[in-house]
Amino acid sequence: MTTPHTPEQADSMHEGGSAKTEDLTFNDPLTFDEGALAARTLFRETFNADADGVWHAPGRVNIIGEHVDYNGGICLPIALPHRAFIAATPRSDRHVRLVSPQTRDHIDEFDLDTVDRRGTDGEVSGWAAYLVGVAWALEQAGFGPLRGFDAALHSCVPLGAGLSSSAALECAMAVAINDMEDLNLLGGDDDDAGRALLVDAARRAENDIAGANTGGLDQSASMRCTKGHALELDCRDMSVRSIPFDLAHDHLALLVIDTRAVHSHVTGEYAQRRQACEEAAGILGVDLLADIDDEQAALDQLPGEVMRARVRHVLTEIDRTRTFIDELASGSLVGERLDRCAALLDASHDSLRDDYEVTCPELDVAVDAARASGAHGARMTGGGFGGSAIALVDESAARDVARAVADAFAEHGFEAPQFLIATPEEPAGKVAE
Ligand code: GLA
Repeated sequence: MTTPHTPEQADSMHEGGSAKTEDLTFNDPLTFDEGALAARTLFRETFNADADGVWHAPGRVNIIGEHVDYNGGICLPIALPHRAFIAATPRSDRHVRLVSPQTRDHIDEFDLDTVDRRGTDGEVSGWAAYLVGVAWALEQAGFGPLRGFDAALHSCVPLGAGLSSSAALECAMAVAINDMEDLNLLGGDDDDAGRALLVDAARRAENDIAGANTGGLDQSASMRCTKGHALELDCRDMSVRSIPFDLAHDHLALLVIDTRAVHSHVTGEYAQRRQACEEAAGILGVDLLADIDDEQAALDQLPGEVMRARVRHVLTEIDRTRTFIDELASGSLVGERLDRCAALLDASHDSLRDDYEVTCPELDVAVDAARASGAHGARMTGGGFGGSAIALVDESAARDVARAVADAFAEHGFEAPQFLIATPEEPAGKVAE
């Protein structure tokens, strides 16, 4: 098993623009043209030929509904403007050659015949595992045999920041293979059904080849979100509904605070939380914690305060997410509705901190500083143990809140945080050229 996201990589791998103003670093996304050009240029320099096409897929932030996907709960992600770009050309054999800006002096080479569950004796590792893993998973799903390919990657999703940089790689690769191999899973009336199939392949790549037993939220967001909307994702059956999400209309913004405390889901804590939920479901006689009707009765049956706290988080988070979605669907985020939604974000973080215990000092300081400096609500987003927090702020206050968070980090002796503004953008696809 490998840990693809090290702090050093995170420092060097963000390839978008970053603007330092008043000592604050905002990571700006690449435009489609910039991303496609960067990937095409790397492809040409490496393989001495022009790529057939360029495909892209976004990172995500989850607005609410955390650590509930693998329990059959409801999540509410948006796709970020920050995306991975892959320039690729199919080959006539089963060989795969990969290059990224960080490895431009070295081409990673694989053979699709030797990729197997959890890689080939460690041969498939790091970021390449996410890409080759998707080809492997599509073959497992019956879409093979596939041809090999040459591919050049360029991503501006901050790495190790809890913003699904790995799902962006997987999903860009999945849509690339769909087109290169004429799988015809996208477009037309069945577009979302095809996307759901590609989500499965991307998730299997992550679970079985990269070795991170994550729950499907990230790949669903990257593949199935739509521009201007949040995605209501019911993880019991992976059904989705698009919910209009236009913060700018209400003069609000979603500030993402990348704490620079690097997390990795390949490591044990995430797996332990998941295992605790599965054990609890076993004791309660349900397949998924989301199947529980009577929260108090369930909690009373569980042995030990720690397991009760884990389950309490999951059940209360599912309720909060439902309520948040109802609020969003019923009108503008102003006045008391805004206050209620903000309180739900705050309560989500507190539950992740106290009951699920997946925050860390950097996340808690970020959230506290954001709240104290005028954010309506704030919470960690993603798997936790590092990564990013989000703050719902007045558009005009985003920079002041960022400044307050940066000051609080300096006081605590933490590395300077970085920021971006999250807007709901389009899902994975081919770059039109
Ligand atoms: C990570 C995982 C997701 C999900 C979140 C927590 O992002 O990849 O599957 O479990 O953590 O909500």
